[in-house]
Amino acid sequence: MSIKMRFLLSYIGVTVVSITLCLAAGFLILFTVTGDVGAIDHLFKKTYIQKPLTAKEESTFLDLKLLAKKDPNALLNINELQKMKQEDIGIVVRRSGKVFYTSDEQNRAKLERFLPKFEEININTRDTIRIDDTFYTYVKFDFYFEDGEQGSIFVLRKASSYAELTRELFPLLLLLLVILFVVIIGLLNYLVSRSIIKPITFLKHSADRIKSGDLNFKVTTASNDEVGQLYRAFEEMRIRLKESTELQIKYEENRKELLSNISHDLKTPITSIIGYVEGIRDGVANSPEKMDKYLSTISIKARDLDKLIDGLFLFSKLDLKRELFSFETVDLVQFIKEFSEEVQFDLQPQGIKLDVSIISQSIYVTADREKIKRVMMNVIQNSVKFLDKDEKKITIHLEERKDDAKISIKDNGQGIDPEAIPYVFDRFYRLEPSRNTETGGSGLGLAIAKQIILAHGGTIEADSLLGEETSVIFTLKKGEHRETHSAD
Ligand SMILES: Nc1ncnc2c1ncn2[C@@H]1O[C@H](COP(=O)(O)OP(=O)(O)OP(=O)(O)O)[C@@H](O)[C@H]1O
Ligand SMILES: [Mg+2]
Repeated sequence: MSIKMRFLLSYIGVTVVSITLCLAAGFLILFTVTGDVGAIDHLFKKTYIQKPLTAKEESTFLDLKLLAKKDPNALLNINELQKMKQEDIGIVVRRSGKVFYTSDEQNRAKLERFLPKFEEININTRDTIRIDDTFYTYVKFDFYFEDGEQGSIFVLRKASSYAELTRELFPLLLLLLVILFVVIIGLLNYLVSRSIIKPITFLKHSADRIKSGDLNFKVTTASNDEVGQLYRAFEEMRIRLKESTELQIKYEENRKELLSNISHDLKTPITSIIGYVEGIRDGVANSPEKMDKYLSTISIKARDLDKLIDGLFLFSKLDLKRELFSFETVDLVQFIKEFSEEVQFDLQPQGIKLDVSIISQSIYVTADREKIKRVMMNVIQNSVKFLDKDEKKITIHLEERKDDAKISIKDNGQGIDPEAIPYVFDRFYRLEPSRNTETGGSGLGLAIAKQIILAHGGTIEADSLLGEETSVIFTLKKGEHRETHSAD
């Protein structure tokens, strides 16, 4: 059964019960106030039956009474009575308990049975009698005929009966009840439909859209009730689902790109190695100098390949979080001094000036020495590769901050296009459109650096002025330094 149907049935139930309870409550109140079970009957009589006689009826009664007092035997004259009777006025003349004359012939026998008895003194002259389902209001006058027989005159007025009244009022009541019923149910239905059914139907359509793969829509609501909460949860689910689907697509694209890049980067040196080897085999390298040149090219290409495979291997291990780190407390000041002395040997012959600017005495960080060295080497190698000015300069700057140490390596090389900066840390990203290895490596250097710094809980970013300079800035969290004393 649908929720709509259930709601409809419950409204009908509630409405019927409410109306019944209202009626029962009304009856109970009446009963409590009057203390009488027949209170309704009395109320009915009072309201509908004990209506006074009309002026015409009263005057007919007075005429009859006058006659009964002055000339009672005239009441035995049917013609006289017929004259007095006006169209709808009910007159009864009774003699010795028998109805002598009645304008309501049909009920003659019943009138004899139900009309009140003769009274010497006329006290209870006005009352109501009930014949079958019909009530009659009457006025009575008792007297004696000239021959001493008991006589009574009645002027009767037919009042509405239960059945008549019900018949009169029933269609109206029923119509009112039906209208009330329809209005209440319609209103409830509208309210519930607007606040529950419609939103649920909308959510169902939204779920169908998601099922068919469409996630590009919004589910919004201003309400804060349960339906509103459901909407918000649904919207959150849609956003998460969309994000994860997009991520999935991105991963898939990355995977394809990675595979194509690896294939390309491996293929290039291998093709040239094959070329040179075949050249030797075909006797192209026919002099010792040529042979030497061929062999050294093969060696360089093979080393490039080895380097690339190493880089790939390291990157994939870092990416999969399978590379082991041996963290220790490192004095970064000391470490950078040693590192710069080491690279100085390589840089000086290339005419590159290395400046180191350190203010602090010592800064302790938790780091893996070899890995940080790798990061700095990768960055420096890039600087070396892209230095294009006559006066080549690389500056290493170390700064201590509240929670971390900031290391920046700046060169005055060709710089990076601002649009490319966000991508330089992506694997295989190289600015040059062609992927030849003449200008550099495989585009893994900064990707590896980023993985290592992230594994240290630090951050890494690049900053550049195109054509002027490039800085790679990374941070390392400060670590606790414990003084170690040697045993001797
Ligand atoms: N100091 C720099 N000056 C100018 N461009 C740079 C600099 N450092 C990085 N880049 C740009 O960022 C790209 C990515 O650098 P990354 O070190 O990751 O790769 P690569 O140097 O090309 O290859 P690999 O380091 O694997 O030998 C480079 O190809 C280059 O275009
Ligand atoms: Mg590099």
